[in-house]
Parts: sequence; structure tokens; C-alpha cells
Amino acid sequence: MSLNKSSKIGVAGAGTMGTGIAQIAATFGHDVYLFDAYPEQLETSKKSLENILNRQVEKGRMSTDEIEGILSRIHFVDHIKDFAGCDIVFEAIVENLQAKKDQLARIEAIISKTCILASNTSSLSIASISSGLKKPVRFLGIHFFNPAPVMKLVEIIPGISTESECTNHARRLISSWNKITVLAKDTPGFIVNRVARPFYGEALRIYEEGIANHATIDWALKVLGGFKMGPFELMDLIGHDVNYAVTESVFKAFYYDPRFKPSFAQKRLVEAGRLGKKSGIGFYDYREHANNTEPHLDETLGNEILNRILVMLINEAADALFMNIATVEDVDLAMKHGVNYPKGLLEWADELGPNWVLSELETLQDYYGEDRYRPNPLLKQKAKDGEYFHEKR
Ligand SMILES: NC(=O)c1ccc[n+]([C@@H]2O[C@H](COP(=O)([O-])OP(=O)(O)OC[C@H]3O[C@@H](n4cnc5c(N)ncnc54)[C@H](O)[C@@H]3O)[C@@H](O)[C@H]2O)c1
Repeated sequence: MSLNKSSKIGVAGAGTMGTGIAQIAATFGHDVYLFDAYPEQLETSKKSLENILNRQVEKGRMSTDEIEGILSRIHFVDHIKDFAGCDIVFEAIVENLQAKKDQLARIEAIISKTCILASNTSSLSIASISSGLKKPVRFLGIHFFNPAPVMKLVEIIPGISTESECTNHARRLISSWNKITVLAKDTPGFIVNRVARPFYGEALRIYEEGIANHATIDWALKVLGGFKMGPFELMDLIGHDVNYAVTESVFKAFYYDPRFKPSFAQKRLVEAGRLGKKSGIGFYDYREHANNTEPHLDETLGNEILNRILVMLINEAADALFMNIATVEDVDLAMKHGVNYPKGLLEWADELGPNWVLSELETLQDYYGEDRYRPNPLLKQKAKDGEYFHEKR
């Protein structure tokens, strides 16, 4: 089962993510077999890869020889029989449980006894996908972020049946591709898509209450908080249809915990077809001659907004730790490298002081009387005992 530089890689699904994974593996010298159920998608994938790689040459980051080498190692195939000689196969097809189960069962019938199988799913459980496999011990989640060749983080998610040997081999391979790997439990949203919910959810709540407009909230998070993008800009970029669907699925998966409640403001945007940048308008208007709302540059208000979103994010990071989803180090690495946060949230909590974070949350909980703001027990314990999340202090 051991994986090394000469391991052959299979990728099923030549869309955005599959193409990116194939590019990474070929860059690191592997022969890659990239399959798609739709032959025209293979053409699209090949063209997009050529464009991406040619741009690297134009920018002086790669030589023509290097990109030719990468392209020659990617075999665009219209049949999974080519997976027979592969050592690991990544599934990156549509996010549909039945489609994934069917495709993986067909792949399992072809691959060798020692080949590892992985899924790039963002929202389905590894357990549910594995239920159709004969040998779920060699199956796990390997979650890349978009764009895969650029984003450093990869979440490694063993399922309920995955053998630790399989997890270790897969993790070592991905690390050898210059990625930062974190280990996550098979729970909704894994680390990043769970812990990041308040970045959107609390921002939307502040907006809905009329405390500030979207431009002011974005300004507070970027200028006062150091985040690369504000929540509204980011939701406009991701697309409200996609972001709302993820929020709704996490909310359902957590048995309707009010911490993850979706927002009406966002639902209305989706219903109206205002999906964000891709449709020309979301919270911001991207059309020509658009007249966009200006932020209200009030530092007191800005800090109030930043602190409220930040303590909600920290509470979620503490919960991921409390529920054994990942280690302190991995929770922080995940947010820094999966969504480019300026600091790890638990590192941030230590800087601000768990006591201060707790008192901010308690103020919110007192005021609203909502379960949404309940402080995590681990945060409470750290505050009470004067402890920190990281041991260094
Ligand atoms: N796009 C993202 O930001 C992102 C990030 C992380 C994970 N993911 C996950 O990665 C997976 C792929 O997402 P994507 O954004 O690349 O989607 P995509 O729509 O760009 O690509 C999916 C590809 O799968 C192909 N396909 C569909 N059914 C197939 C089948 N039965 N067999 C083989 N190929 C099939 C399609 O032709 C398409 O080329 C999903 O599970 C998604 O949740 C996506």
C-alpha cells in the first residue's frame, strides 16, 4: 500500500477540483490518469490546464520544459480501466451521494488489492460514501480547497472503517506534495467548513438586525481584523447559491443547532437570482456604472462588529477541539491555510485571553437569550482556570 514518487495516481472527475488534483500530482512527477464520464469535459480540462500552465511560463515561474513534462504525465482517459495500475484514486465527481457510491463501486472492481481510494467531498460523510464499498478499510476523505494547486491546506478524514495504515500512507503522500495536512474527524463540514460558519452567519445576523450595512461589516473585518476579504465580498465570490446550500446542509447535519441557522437575507438573494459576482449582483453590484454602498468608517462600531464575529468564530474553534474533531494545532492550521485567516483562532483566543472571549459571549447570550451564543464548555474551563489553548504560555 506504500506510496512514493513513482506511485500512479487516478483521478475521477475532470472538473475544477479533479483537474487541480491532477495538476498537483503531475507537478510532483507522478503519472496521472484523469477520467471523466463526459469526454467533452476532458477536452475542457486539458485546455484549462494548458492555459493555467502557460500563464506560469509567461510569469517566469515555470519553464516550457517543465510544463511539457507535467502535461505529458497527465493521461486524459475516457474509461476507468486505466485505473487498474494505480496506487491511489481520488474521486472528485459531482457532490451527489448515489453518483459517488456508484462510481466508486465501479472503480473498486477494477483497482488492485492495495490501491487506496479517496473522496474529495466537502459535505457528504465519509461513512455514507464508504457504505457501498467492499473494502472500506482502504477508503478515506482527502479534502482539497479551491484552487487546489494554490491552497496549501488538505483535510485528511479517515472514516469509521478506515485502517490507520491507509490514513498514514495517504497523509504522507499529500505532505510530499508540499501541502499542509490536518487530520479531521468525519463530522459535518470537517474543520474549515464547520469552524468558518460564523464568519458568514454572524455577519449576516448583524446585517439583518440593521446594526451596519454590508460594506461597513466588510471594512471592519478587513481593515480592523486583518482578514483578506470581508464576509459579504467572500459570499458574493463563492456564490450565494453555493454558500447558502452549505449553510443549510451544515444546519441540518447538526440537527438544527441554532449556531448554524441560515439567513433569510441570503435566501432571498438566492431566490431572486442575485448569486453574487457570477450573476453581476449579490450584496455588491458588479455591473457597469453600479452605485455601491459606502462603509461607515466608525471605529467603535467596527470593533464591536469585529469582536462579535471573532468571538463566535473562536467559540466554534473551541467546540471543534472540545468535540475531538481535530487538535489545537490542526484547528489553527486549517483556518490559516484553508481560508487564509490572519491568525489561528485559538492562537487569537490566547492573545485576547479566554476570559475576555468568554465575557463577550456571555454578554451576547444575556442580551439575546439565544442558545446560539452559548459559550463552549472548554472555553469556560480555560477562562475559569486561567489557562490557554496553546501550551506555550
Ligand atoms: N469547487 C470547490 O470549491 C470544491 C472544493 C472542495 C471540494 N469540492 C468537492 O469536489 C468535488 C468536485 O467538485 P468540482 O467543483 O470539481 O465539480 P465540477 O462540477 O467542476 O466537476 C465535476 C466533474 O465530475 C464529472 N462527473 C459527473 N458525474 C460523473 C461520474 N459519474 N463519473 C465521472 N465523472 C463524473 C463532471 O463531468 C465534471 O467534470 C465535489 O465533491 C465537491 O463537493 C469542491
